[in-house]
Amino acid sequence: MEQLLKDLQGLTGYSQNDAELLRQSAPVTRLWVDELAQAFYDTLYAYPPTQQILGEGQRAEREQTLRAWYLDVVSGEVTPRFWQRQWVVGLVHILRRVGNPYMLAMMSRAQTFFLGKCLEHWPDGRGEQVFGAFKRTTDVIAGLIAEGYFRNYVLAMERVAGFKLALIGRMMDLEVRKMLEEARSGA
Ligand code: HEM
Repeated sequence: MEQLLKDLQGLTGYSQNDAELLRQSAPVTRLWVDELAQAFYDTLYAYPPTQQILGEGQRAEREQTLRAWYLDVVSGEVTPRFWQRQWVVGLVHILRRVGNPYMLAMMSRAQTFFLGKCLEHWPDGRGEQVFGAFKRTTDVIAGLIAEGYFRNYVLAMERVAGFKLALIGRMMDLEVRKMLEEARSGA
């Protein structure tokens, strides 16, 4: 996970300044937690495929998880354990069949919500800075969750099926070339 984290931070432009900025703005951004949790689950419960994943009667629990996640992010207390917690979300999502498109779509919602609140609260340019810090942080998180999902999914398959991906890499390349041709020909 270490190299992945470096890649995501380096390419998004994430830096320690972002954590610092989030820490400084936390007294304000923390107050948005209930509104975000409400909007987040209104969306997921209004959409049948995600409603089915979440299940009836679990809304309070799910909202609590998201609230804790959001407060953790905006606290700006960024430690190696912080990033590790994000990586683990991918594993939990595999079990609950929360595919990455759902996660990415909702991350986009959370970011757009946060941008609106920032511009409303700090109309003077600071809002854009705070949003930038949140955006880079949550983009790195989305990368960790998505890659955590993908790598652990493949790893679990390797363990269950007893194959080594590294050994069958060339055969996979051949197969992927075939799939690429099919996709390009519209088959
Ligand atoms: C911004 C996107 C998302 C974030 C940041 C996020 C975050 C989390 C976190 C922090 C957990 C708890 C992980 C743990 O137990 O260590 C979790 C679990 C879970 N998430 Fe997500 N999630 C996101 C999107 C979604 C979406 C779109 C759905 C539904 C379609 C979903 C459904 C679930 C479910 C069902 C669990 C498992 C709860 C359990 O069994 O305890 N999540 N998520």
